[in-house]
Amino acid sequence: MTRKVDFNDRMLSLGLARVSEAAALAAARLIGRGNEKAADQAAVDAMRTQLNMLDIDGLVVIGEGERDEAPMLFVGERVGTGAGPAVDIALDPLEGTTLTAKDMPNALTVIAMGPRGSMLHAPDVYMEKLAVGPGYPAGVVSLDMAPGDRVRSLAEARGCRPADITVCILERPRHEKLVAAVRDTGASIRLITDGDVAGVIHCAEREITGIDMYMGSGGAPEGVLAAAALKCMGGQIVGKLLFRNDDEVARARRAGIDNLDRVYSRDEMVTADVIFSATGVTNGSIVSGIKREPGWLTTETILMRSKTGSVRRMIYRTPVDRPAAGR
Ligand code: FBP
Repeated sequence: MTRKVDFNDRMLSLGLARVSEAAALAAARLIGRGNEKAADQAAVDAMRTQLNMLDIDGLVVIGEGERDEAPMLFVGERVGTGAGPAVDIALDPLEGTTLTAKDMPNALTVIAMGPRGSMLHAPDVYMEKLAVGPGYPAGVVSLDMAPGDRVRSLAEARGCRPADITVCILERPRHEKLVAAVRDTGASIRLITDGDVAGVIHCAEREITGIDMYMGSGGAPEGVLAAAALKCMGGQIVGKLLFRNDDEVARARRAGIDNLDRVYSRDEMVTADVIFSATGVTNGSIVSGIKREPGWLTTETILMRSKTGSVRRMIYRTPVDRPAAGR
């Protein structure tokens, strides 16, 4: 008979920080080299190696893609030594491959872990996302509201004018109408070229980032990662899967999703307490990027637990000429 081991989030969290750190360190030499694929591969390899050192019976539920598309860290891959609690893992070894290749801000390595069955198996399709930081009444904004009404409702709750609100949106042709509707209210928009996990997290630290709300469509897997982060930091996110063709509907069905029109709340995407770690690759408003000095690499990691609401920022300095981390 196998013994059931509890998800000891306190002990596992420090191991999780090592995992995102290792992925970032591996991607460091590829920052600004114009090679998205190589940067991603380096991060994937390092993340997988570190993950396999953890005493967990891990199941990748958000990963690099479906088994036939991704040789490593695919959805369904078992990771860890197997000697430990059964956990779900959501990861993005390099969130912002293009940001890394071009040395643009806010590229991160990201991983979240929770007890088995705690995370939505989001297929690799788009998700309509809407997020705000902590301190607002539940449902202060919703996907049912027109974009302008979301701005007005948030401004009223914050006790400011719509013109004092800043919304973060991915700069894409599909968002042209959304951008126009938000601008009509007088609100300002921070357009980002990539990296909506960071975009959503920005809402949780408004005083530092200046972002009040995140809106628009992006990857559904990134939506679950962002939900895990907000579960730790506080804040609301809702998401609705978007399907462009039958293949995408089939992906959802394979992931066990029957109701294609469902709007998921934060706690429906991530149903139990989780831990979350992200390490900066390029400089950003949440964490600094990797600092390269002769003989040394330095990373900054944000490590969080939803059970306690604790948010740690950890600086890690390592010599570059020693055996790889983890030995
Ligand atoms: P990568 O990690 O592959 O670089 O993806 C970055 C990203 O910008 C995500 O943050 C976002 O959810 C998604 O791509 C948006 O997709 P698209 O580029 O198709 O609009």
